Amino acid sequence: MAENLFIGLNTIHLPCVDSTNNYARELVHDKMPIEGTLIIADEQTIGKGQRENSWVSEAKMNLTGSYILNPVFLAAQNQFFLSVVVALAVSDLVSLFLANEESVKIKWPNDILVNNQKIAGILIENTLQGAHIEASIVGIGLNVNQIEFQNELNATSLKLISAKSFELKTVIQQLNKTLEQYYLRLKAGRKTELLALMNQRLWQGGNWIQLKLNGE
Ligand code: BTN
Repeated sequence: MAENLFIGLNTIHLPCVDSTNNYARELVHDKMPIEGTLIIADEQTIGKGQRENSWVSEAKMNLTGSYILNPVFLAAQNQFFLSVVVALAVSDLVSLFLANEESVKIKWPNDILVNNQKIAGILIENTLQGAHIEASIVGIGLNVNQIEFQNELNATSLKLISAKSFELKTVIQQLNKTLEQYYLRLKAGRKTELLALMNQRLWQGGNWIQLKLNGE
């Protein structure tokens, strides 16, 4: 099988850090590392989620990592395509490890659900330079071997679904490959194809649903 060209080739593995996204941001500010650099942590003390939420993950049980990308080819107004690429890659990964037995969906833009329960979350933080994206920090939290979650999180993991344990190293290697394939498709300008794939996997796609906006 072909090896990766750049995603995850440079990996920094930390036993403990506040947040891999914060660590990656400091690297970007100090001296931009090579594109595709991955920061992986066994444990995060202040893992960050969307909308100022925290991301809580048992040490050494799950994948908590951040990639540094330089999508200078992408106009700032098209930055949502990064969410498309990452959501497709993570949902592919989950399907692969669950052998496609379950319904894996993307709850746009950041959540990956299996049978309506959250298995992964994505936090992308971009640095813009003029009309372009200079650096993108792509934080991914994927529940792998953890089997107990607070009820209100409605969370699940690969192990809870499949009753199997997974080697984190293997999961990370596969994510590197999958993410690189989708990212290169975006770089090649195959946006229509990516959007079509995304539409097929959208949670509640094709259904009328009720949404609450500003409490109403
Ligand atoms: C969400 O669903 O709210 C997004 C969760 C993102 C969590 C990941 S874990 C690795 C990276 N570092 C962080 O502090 N957050 C992201």
